[in-house]
Amino acid sequence: MHYCMVLLFLPMRQSGPIGVFDSGYGGLTVLKEITQLMPQYDYLYFGDNARAPYGPRSFDTVYHYTLQCVEWFFKQGCSLVVLACNTASAKALRTIQQNDLPNIAPEKRVLGVIRPTTERIGELTRSGKVGVLGTNGTVRSQSYLIEIKKFYPEVEVFQEACPMWVPLIENNEYETEGADFFIEKSLKNLMTLDAAIDTVLLACTHYPLIKEKIEAFLPPDVKVVSQGGIVAESLVDYLTRHPEIETKCSKNGNVGFYTTDSTADFDQQGSVFYGRPVRSVHVNLEL
Ligand code: DGL
Repeated sequence: MHYCMVLLFLPMRQSGPIGVFDSGYGGLTVLKEITQLMPQYDYLYFGDNARAPYGPRSFDTVYHYTLQCVEWFFKQGCSLVVLACNTASAKALRTIQQNDLPNIAPEKRVLGVIRPTTERIGELTRSGKVGVLGTNGTVRSQSYLIEIKKFYPEVEVFQEACPMWVPLIENNEYETEGADFFIEKSLKNLMTLDAAIDTVLLACTHYPLIKEKIEAFLPPDVKVVSQGGIVAESLVDYLTRHPEIETKCSKNGNVGFYTTDSTADFDQQGSVFYGRPVRSVHVNLEL
């Protein structure tokens, strides 16, 4: 066969960055862990800051916003997108995976943060009682209750929604006495549900920023678990098990940051979440 003919029949083998999505800044705590574990890949981080927070929004709204952002990632050449947002994972992931992907991009994949976390959380509790802290949206979706039961039917799950925490963190007010009041209040509510809770999961990507405060307000023997490290380890495992996706992930060690809102705000706030300087580019999604 002629050389050009051979080329024509070869499948398209374009590679692109791994997409990491959040409603705003919180997913940067997950990206930080992922890039530490796998610095060789290229990443695009996209925060839908103009429409954050997603926590109080309806299923329908979170689904439409998340799908629009996932489509943006696909246009940038991403074959794999991680929803590094619990609210989007709880309210949009399943519909996108089951209804949208088969139509818009059957060869691409979208993963969330809930499943990898719930797969592991049961290993960490000795009392068999786990506390879950999240946004209103995540808690009301019952996703953690349902998923943990699948992997660890014997584990009891107690949830507390902490709607004040994200605004306090986003507005840089989390080191104040006012923040302490709300942090302590939510933790008291959680521990009142069952004093034997020995493992508390931070099921919101913002909460790692106040992990030390949370630990200080809980009994000393309670383990507080952030999900970034767990999600990063699970992604390593996923890429090992899925070479057909792994080979589509480019490897130049670049990380790009994109936001639907002010880049100046993103760069300032984002660096707090990411722990390193951040320089973002504005995206107009025609909101
Ligand atoms: N990133 C979201 C989460 O993990 C919290 C912020 C929001 O409400 O948009 O649930």
